[in-house]
Amino acid sequence: MKKLAVALMAALALVTVVALGAGLAIGMAGLGVVAVVDDVHLLPEGPAEGVQGRPWAAPVAADAEARRGLRADAYPHDCSVEKCVALTFDDGPGPHTDALLKTLAAEKVRATFFVLGEMVAERPEVLRRTAEAGHQIGNHTWDHKDLTGLTPAQVRSQLTRTSDLVERVTGRRPAVMRPPYGASDRKVAKEVAALGMPEVIWGVDPQDWRGMGADEVARKVLKEVQPGEIVLLHDIRKPSVAAMPRVIRTLKKRGYVFATVSELLASAVVQPGAQYRRLV
Ligand code: NI
Repeated sequence: MKKLAVALMAALALVTVVALGAGLAIGMAGLGVVAVVDDVHLLPEGPAEGVQGRPWAAPVAADAEARRGLRADAYPHDCSVEKCVALTFDDGPGPHTDALLKTLAAEKVRATFFVLGEMVAERPEVLRRTAEAGHQIGNHTWDHKDLTGLTPAQVRSQLTRTSDLVERVTGRRPAVMRPPYGASDRKVAKEVAALGMPEVIWGVDPQDWRGMGADEVARKVLKEVQPGEIVLLHDIRKPSVAAMPRVIRTLKKRGYVFATVSELLASAVVQPGAQYRRLV
């Protein structure tokens, strides 16, 4: 009798597990359907460049040579199912960018660099190395002016000059931009939209420009990161570069994968000229 009860309980447990599994499968199938509907029907018409008119969703440096040294099976990340975070580095390329590239290569992590045209003009070879390592390059204007104080023609010039130079150096035009100081308004957004780019802001900002050390940068980032976040950092700041091994290793332990901004936004409905702070 006791044996029968145990057998019954075991059978019941098995049924429960199977039912849970089926529920999970149905749930996942449901998610898949939602994603497909998003893809086909809800995405706006984009410019002709890029994948299906969605340059921000195009794989970054997709050729095998460009991702040499990076784990092929980690590329690209699907942030609709993976626990993603996007590290972004602004205002370079600078004297510490190569050290950062070394860390990212050692950790097999890709990031996004929002570069200034005037900095690219000084260090084109650093930008070329950055792009060749498979990182995404975004447009951060020519010389970091507050775009809301400029005329529409000046805003256009800030962005176009920078994209032209990035394309000349890397062979690829930036698909995303970030306004300096995160400062934008309707007039700026209209010019950005006309160039087919979304505005990429951030959800996590350790304010690393305030002259803090590497430990503090790491602590602040690790305290704030949630799945789908975009983290603002500066590769022109040595302590921020020095903080990255610890930040990356700790986030990996928490189960994160590191996506470029375009990977992060690939499952979202992205409108040119609209602002994105995180993947929700
Ligand atoms: Ni900046």
